[in-house]
Amino acid sequence: MEVSRRKLTVVGAGAVGTAIAYAALIRGVARTVALLDVNEAKVEAEVLDLRHGLEFVPGATVICGSDPSVASDSNVVIFTAGAKQKPGQSRLELAEATIELTRRALPPIVAAAPDAVFIMVTNPVDVVTYAALKFTGLPPNRLFGSGTVLDTSRLRHLLAIHCGVAVQNVHAYIAGEHGDGEIPLWSTATIGAVPLDQWRPLAGRDPLDAAVREQIRRDVVESAYRIIAGKGATNYAIGLAAVRITEAIFGDEHRVLPVSTLIADGPEGIDDVCLSLPTIVDARGAGERLAVSLSDDEAAGLRASADTLHQTQKHFDL
Ligand code: 2OP
Repeated sequence: MEVSRRKLTVVGAGAVGTAIAYAALIRGVARTVALLDVNEAKVEAEVLDLRHGLEFVPGATVICGSDPSVASDSNVVIFTAGAKQKPGQSRLELAEATIELTRRALPPIVAAAPDAVFIMVTNPVDVVTYAALKFTGLPPNRLFGSGTVLDTSRLRHLLAIHCGVAVQNVHAYIAGEHGDGEIPLWSTATIGAVPLDQWRPLAGRDPLDAAVREQIRRDVVESAYRIIAGKGATNYAIGLAAVRITEAIFGDEHRVLPVSTLIADGPEGIDDVCLSLPTIVDARGAGERLAVSLSDDEAAGLRASADTLHQTQKHFDL
């Protein structure tokens, strides 16, 4: 789609929503960026601030409002509204409040933007995505979650630093829940053209042994807790990750991204749950999942992650 016809709406003018709007403007992904929030004073102030930078970014218009009509005719809607994770609180502990909010807030936005692709970012993103599919009846390709796109970029960053290579040359994915049960897919990871299992450290670098991998996994899982303890929220990297997904949609890129989609009759007997696996993202939204081969540990981890999410869904009668 031509840039001049693209409209992106971001729902929620908190730390995440505003970081997404800011990143979207800087990267020039849409001609119109709309910010929607029930707090009128806050959303107006945020948009005024963003507008004052328009001279320095590719051409765009920024609009805002507290009524869902501000989203009308959007091509992509990113949903970030919801309760904030407190220091030490897990993403799943946010479920009750955010499911209720999604039930109330999302359907009128879908009515205003009936043809949009919806990207859910609100946590716990996998459960919220599952709930949002129920509440809206949208087809699963047109409503999915940001999933482990951010965790994957955290993993790639840590591997890149450890191995001394550019982050863009690390091909490794985090799958499963966006949360404590997420799983690095080590067995299919590569750096450049070298499978991770065959990686020989560059001069002066430490090996990438099992202990180092486990430390990296833990660092990825604990990233959000560390950032929330220090500054109250994570926002910049998720802002860039959400905009990257948006670019894949607007550009019909067929990009492989670990977004959280509804898995029906999936690998390892996984069924009726939203979680992340490498998936093609294009103009129609989230498409086919890649048939990734999993080691026994990865398969067990994925099943455990799916079980946790299933139990949470059941707990909330979804
Ligand atoms: C993150 O991983 C909190 O889910 C958010 O940064």
